[in-house]
Amino acid sequence: MALVPPYIENLRPYEPGRSIEDVRRTYGLTRVAKLASNENPLGPSPLAVAAIARNLGGLNYYPNGGLDLRVRLAREFHLKVQNVIAGSGSDSIMSGIIRAFLCDDDEVLTTEAAFIGFQVLARSRGVAYRTVPYRDWHYDLEAIAGAITENTKIIYLANPNNPTGTIFSKDEFDEFYRYVPQRVLIILDEAYFEYAKDRPRYPDSMHYRYDNVITLRTFSKIYGLAGLRIGYGFAHEELIANLLKVKLPFEPSGLAQIAGIAALDDREFVEKALELNARGLRTIGKSLREMGFEVIPSEANFVMVPLDSAEAAKSLTEELLRKGVIVRPLGAFGLPHCVRISTGTDEENRMLLDACREFGVGAECGAPLPVVAAR
Ligand SMILES: Cc1ncc(COP(=O)(O)O)c(C=O)c1O
Repeated sequence: MALVPPYIENLRPYEPGRSIEDVRRTYGLTRVAKLASNENPLGPSPLAVAAIARNLGGLNYYPNGGLDLRVRLAREFHLKVQNVIAGSGSDSIMSGIIRAFLCDDDEVLTTEAAFIGFQVLARSRGVAYRTVPYRDWHYDLEAIAGAITENTKIIYLANPNNPTGTIFSKDEFDEFYRYVPQRVLIILDEAYFEYAKDRPRYPDSMHYRYDNVITLRTFSKIYGLAGLRIGYGFAHEELIANLLKVKLPFEPSGLAQIAGIAALDDREFVEKALELNARGLRTIGKSLREMGFEVIPSEANFVMVPLDSAEAAKSLTEELLRKGVIVRPLGAFGLPHCVRISTGTDEENRMLLDACREFGVGAECGAPLPVVAAR
């Protein structure tokens, strides 16, 4: 269509995972476990829910663009409010970064099969999108540094990474940073920060305070507020001032901001979610490996499972769906032979493992399933 630039015409839109209701209806199931979108299986932070209930009466008023949350985050992290931005999810702030900082001849540089949300946003700007292969399912920061050109404007790094669940270390980042010119903006996407922050080698980007780094975090994961759309970012005040110019005036919504502020105080919920996740990672990792699957060690709230082929990944995904377990096939990310599985409640994890076990047993018995031993 003549009205649409080719880079939009050729863009594949972001496809969210299948909903519980859809799978329930399609397969005639009563119990469905959604382990496809790295959400919090415990539900939303109770303090956030209570705060929303208390504030419903204010829905007639326009919100203040996230100012209250920015003030609260600045206090929490010992920053000035001018260093903080809040938006309708970290995706929205990422979208602002793409709009605010990229010109036509600029290039974006990242790893292969990066977080799909970033891929779609960056490609929608029509600039060159360059990638470097993973090294053992980790960002190859050395190779990314080596791939910087005079046109490189944005480097996107997710730590922990989605979909692999792996992290790069503080030492690796320090070494990498020495090679990054000041004219290059590094997006450090820390959507899964809370799950990894206690690892000694994890580089908490808040400690850096570099002028060309923007950190993005979210309430969608550990705080269980994915449906509300609320995220935030930290950066040099000039970067934030320019991002505020392109942000939609009234985002985030008033209730999202109120929920975010309340969730920051919900330490008990965060602890519970971390414990459940650690248990889930251990159980899923150990059990799947015993069944012969390869499981990439993860520092987030999901694991990636590479299979022998795209057909095997498709067949596992479909078999699990039939048994009421939704997982995420990674074809859209660029890894058609992999699936990503979020940790669930203990019961959901059991459903997953029972379903995988049946799948594996079918293969061992010689049933015609195109399965999948460890690679
Ligand atoms: C690496 C990464 N960044 C950002 C997001 C999006 O977060 P939000 O819900 O705050 O837009 C996700 C969600 O899956 C993610 O995995």
